[in-house]
Amino acid sequence: MKRSRYPGVFTDGRHFYTLSNYGKSVYGEKVIKKKGKYYHLWNPRRSKLSASMHLKLKSFPFAGAKILYLGASTGTTVSHVSDLAEIVYAVEVSPISMQKLVSLAEQRKNIFPILEDARKVENFAIFVEEPDIIYQDVSQRDQVEIFIKNMSYFNPNWGFIMLKTRTIDMRRKPREIMKETVKKIKENFTVVEILDISRFQKDHYAIVVRA
Ligand SMILES: C[S@@+](CC[C@H](N)C(=O)[O-])C[C@H]1O[C@@H](n2cnc3c(N)ncnc32)[C@H](O)[C@@H]1O
Repeated sequence: MKRSRYPGVFTDGRHFYTLSNYGKSVYGEKVIKKKGKYYHLWNPRRSKLSASMHLKLKSFPFAGAKILYLGASTGTTVSHVSDLAEIVYAVEVSPISMQKLVSLAEQRKNIFPILEDARKVENFAIFVEEPDIIYQDVSQRDQVEIFIKNMSYFNPNWGFIMLKTRTIDMRRKPREIMKETVKKIKENFTVVEILDISRFQKDHYAIVVRA
């Protein structure tokens, strides 16, 4: 296992791994034990952030950061991000997904789960201390508006949106929707990267933004 180009992330030449104190597999991923530490395989078909890394993502500010994660689900990507970050504020609207997320947060000390609609920033802002990064993976028609609202409210250095084009409009071409989204985001922020991650995640783009 070697260090990868991404701070805090390791590689065996084929896959990425995060290094963890926790040995339990979170979503069925392979875990390799070495010298009392655990390497968790970061599956690009299960995590859009891993997919982005496999497709040569350049921006990677996650090590040691405070992260506001919108659309945490059961914690697949959150688990890897928590191996890297200082703290992850994990917002999820589904009470069913939240059950698993809470049990993950009980095992890991730096995940703060929040059961809330990501649109209702005013309801959860009180729990979130100045995030460095907003990472959003919310499959909603108004996902771009949700992202802009949170970016404007918290003003972090970085924003990552995993854009699911089909949820915005399944009849239009994904590329068209991506372009329209980028235009909207550019009204307020600087777009630094756009990656087509459909090789691993159908009809998805990863867009990286700076305040
Ligand atoms: C594609 S899944 C996220 C997968 C997760 N990011 C991962 O990689 O492990 C999208 C999640 O967004 C949640 N979601 C949808 N609308 C939301 C909203 N308005 N606020 C918060 N979460 C929302 C869904 O319940 C679902 O769990």
